[in-house]
Amino acid sequence: MGLQDSLLPGLRHVTKQLAQLLLLVLLLWILFSLVVFTYFTDSQVNQPHKITPFNSESEHSTYVQHSSRAIMASHNSHWRLYADRKGPFQHRQVFQPPRAREEFYFRNFGERHPRARKYLRKPPRSGYSDDYFSNDWSVVRGLWKGQVSSKMLNHRLQRALRDHVHSNKHNVLYKGQRKANKSVEEMLCQMKRQAQLRTLDGSEQPFAHLGFKQLASSKLQKMYTTCAVVTSAGAILNSSLGREIDSHDAVLRFNAAPYKGYGKDVGSKTTIRIMNSQILANPKHNFSSSLLYKDITLVAWDPAPYNIDLHKWYQQPDYDLFTPYINHRKNFPEQPFYILHPSFIWKLWDIVQSNTMENIQPNPPSSGFIGIVMMMNFCEEVHVYEYIPSMRQSNLCHYHEKYYDAACTFGAYHPLLYEKLLIKRMSTASEKDLKKKGKVTLPGFSKINCPL
Ligand SMILES: *[C@@H]1O[C@H](CO)[C@@H](O)[C@H](O)[C@H]1NC(C)=O
Ligand SMILES: *[C@@H]1O[C@H](CO)[C@@H](O)[C@H](O)[C@H]1NC(C)=O
Ligand SMILES: *[C@@H]1O[C@H](CO)[C@@H](O)[C@H](O)[C@H]1NC(C)=O
Repeated sequence: MGLQDSLLPGLRHVTKQLAQLLLLVLLLWILFSLVVFTYFTDSQVNQPHKITPFNSESEHSTYVQHSSRAIMASHNSHWRLYADRKGPFQHRQVFQPPRAREEFYFRNFGERHPRARKYLRKPPRSGYSDDYFSNDWSVVRGLWKGQVSSKMLNHRLQRALRDHVHSNKHNVLYKGQRKANKSVEEMLCQMKRQAQLRTLDGSEQPFAHLGFKQLASSKLQKMYTTCAVVTSAGAILNSSLGREIDSHDAVLRFNAAPYKGYGKDVGSKTTIRIMNSQILANPKHNFSSSLLYKDITLVAWDPAPYNIDLHKWYQQPDYDLFTPYINHRKNFPEQPFYILHPSFIWKLWDIVQSNTMENIQPNPPSSGFIGIVMMMNFCEEVHVYEYIPSMRQSNLCHYHEKYYDAACTFGAYHPLLYEKLLIKRMSTASEKDLKKKGKVTLPGFSKINCPL
């Protein structure tokens, strides 16, 4: 009895503790299951819904962080077409599928994806005054004032920016200065000093060995007085800018942007067309036969690694632009056609980063920015239309396609926001021209006088 009396309370105490422990274990287990469940459903959402070939790229989902190379590999074989099998380019693929899904979604044709549709918004009903409160409009107003930061972007675009900075696909390593308060003169002189146009001339390996020197067009030297850069932004619709655009000595257009049927708003004159490598590589653009690419100067580009490893680039361009370039040069030797040197592309990126305190996306600048700076090389005055959005701004990506996404204006893959800020800060156009025409004006390098 005495023994039991002294044992019982102790036993009760132990049992109570045991029950508490069990309860805790149960709770922890539930918590753990929840975490696991959330993790897996999340990554399922992040997986591509389906794999489709190129011509339905607009149907792809985005923000796919994990590339599914295995699945891609089985589809790659469909996409392989081969160039003519003569000469040193025997086994080059004309059209190389992307190496990672991210690349597929994020490069070039604006940054498009179906889930972005929930961000779709209507353009303002009248002018820009009645729709001022939304997120996108605060960024547009920031651009007009020359004061923006990534914190003004919607969460989706902020996340895309962070993801790109984190993944650093091109191994960008920037150690230069950062100064966000340079004067206009300083910025222009930096441009003139550092952004001299450079094209692939075949003097370096592996291109020298492959005979690019004989193949490449002779150096671009023609100078123009006034030039127009016509972006493909949806906001150029209903602008009636066509006549003004055509009045310039030279007009630059982008990628596959058409003018037939859009003359009133975008004009019809084309002097130069700058194209990313997808235009050359993807058969759907009919690069070798389409009239869009005839009788004008052509400029193509493709991102190389940041360290400008030309051998690696030649072996693994994002999209194979070399084979179509070679074929086109052979078939139309009289047509001026250039490939931009990757060092020019990444120098432009350096310039944008050097004028920004934030970490910009470590991906090549947009074709828009590349085209603008290229034109500063051979025009006395460059007028750019709808690069900085006018009051016609909507989320319509391109004037010639029905696709809506704010990423096309503010950037996800390309450091668009920062490029635009830099261009706006250098512009001499009036506020009225900016808001009504979406126009910025920049002096060409020949008109910029810098201290030695
Ligand atoms: C520019 O900003 C830097 C710091 O980022 C500051 O030290 C410098 O004084 C500023 N210059 C001007 C002219 O405001
Ligand atoms: C352009 O104007 C027409 C007629 O005024 C209108 O129906 C159309 O929606 C406008 N398009 C855009 C993109 O604003
Ligand atoms: C390319 O050519 C095909 C066949 O001639 C045609 O159906 C298609 O519309 C063309 N595409 C473009 C973008 O011109």
